Amino acid sequence: QFQPLVFSGVQPTGNLHLGNYLGAIRKFVALQENNDCIYCVVDLHAITAQLVHEDLKGQIRSIAAAFIASGIDPVKHIVFNQSAVPQHAELAWVFNCVARIGWMNRMTQFKDKAGKDRENASLGLLAYPSLMAADILVYRATHVPVGDDQKQHLELARDIAQKFNIDYQDKIRATGQGVDMVVGEEPIHGYFPLVEPLIDGPAPRVMSLRDGTKKMSKSDPSDLSRINLMDDQDTILKKIRKAKTDPDALPSETEGLAGRPEADNLVGIFAALSDKSKADVLKEFGGRQFSEFKPALADLAVEVLAPINGEMRRLMDDTSHIDAILRDGGERAGARAEKVMNDVRDIIGF
Ligand code: ADP
Ligand code: NA
Repeated sequence: QFQPLVFSGVQPTGNLHLGNYLGAIRKFVALQENNDCIYCVVDLHAITAQLVHEDLKGQIRSIAAAFIASGIDPVKHIVFNQSAVPQHAELAWVFNCVARIGWMNRMTQFKDKAGKDRENASLGLLAYPSLMAADILVYRATHVPVGDDQKQHLELARDIAQKFNIDYQDKIRATGQGVDMVVGEEPIHGYFPLVEPLIDGPAPRVMSLRDGTKKMSKSDPSDLSRINLMDDQDTILKKIRKAKTDPDALPSETEGLAGRPEADNLVGIFAALSDKSKADVLKEFGGRQFSEFKPALADLAVEVLAPINGEMRRLMDDTSHIDAILRDGGERAGARAEKVMNDVRDIIGF
C-alpha cells in the first residue's frame, strides 16, 4: 500500500492572508504531529497568471518564513521551493499528455482567473492543475490539506492519477513498483495514489470582509477585504470593525447562520481561530450585537497572528536562515522526487 504522505503548497504571490492561514497553513502545522509532510512554495505556479514579478525571490522567502513562523518544523519535515526540484515540471509534462483539454476547460478557477479574454490567458494558466497534480504525485503523496477553493483541482489530480494508472497498468506491473488497487469495481495495478483532500474545519473557505459572496483573496484590489498575516494590530482592528454585516444581532444556535453569509463568515473565522465549532461560538455570542462580537473577534485575531507576524519579521531581517532551510529542503525533496521520476521514465519507456 501507499505510505501516507502529506503534501501542500502556497504560491509566492502577494501577501498571505487569513484565508491562506486558516484554509491551509494552520492545517499544515497540525498535520505534522502524526504525518510525514512536504510543504512547498509553488513558484512555478506564480508565473502562470503574471509573468514578471517585482521581487519573486523575496516573496518565496516570505512564504517560507510564514511556514516556519507558524510552527512548521523544516528538519522533521520538508520545506522547499518548487523550481528547486525540476522533476515537478518534468512530471507535469507527462500529465499534460495524460489530462484532456476538456478537463482543463471545466476548471472554475481558470475561468475566474482568465476572465473574459480567455484566448489571451497563458497556456500555463490552463495547465495549472496538471502541474499541481505533479507537485503532489511526484512524491506519491496521499493527503493534501487545502482550502475549499482547491477541491476541483484535487479531483482533477485524482482523474490524472487514475488515467495514468489504467493506461499504463501493464507497464506498471512490469516495473514491480506498483500497488494493487480498485478503481470502481475493477482491480488494477496502479502507480499513483488517488489523493485525499483534507478540507474541513469551521472555515474551509474564508470570505472577503467586504463581500460575503467572494473568497478572501490576495488578488482582491481592496485591502479592506482581507486580513494579511503582516497586518499590525491597529489595521486588524480597523478591518474587522469595517467588515460588512447585516443589521441583526448574532443568531442563536438554533436560529443558525443560513442566509446570512457575512455573519457566517465572521463566526466561522472566530470558530477556526479559537478551535471551536460555529455552534459553540453561537452559544456564547447568540443574541449579541456585532458591535460586541467584532472587538472580541479582532482581539482573537491579533492574539493568534501577532506572534506569527513578529517571527516572520525576524526571519525576514536576515534571510540566510530561510535560504539555508530552502536549500536543504530542496535537496531532500529532489532525492525523493527523482526516485519516482525514475520509475515514471521506466513505465513510459524513456
Ligand atoms: P490565493 O488563492 O490567495 O492566491 P494560493 O492559491 O496560494 O492563494 O492558496 C494557498 C492555499 O490557501 C490553498 O490551500 C488555498 O486553498 C488556501 N486558500 C486561499 N484562499 C483561501 C480562502 N479564502 N479560504 C480558505 N482557504 C484559502
Ligand atoms: Na487559490
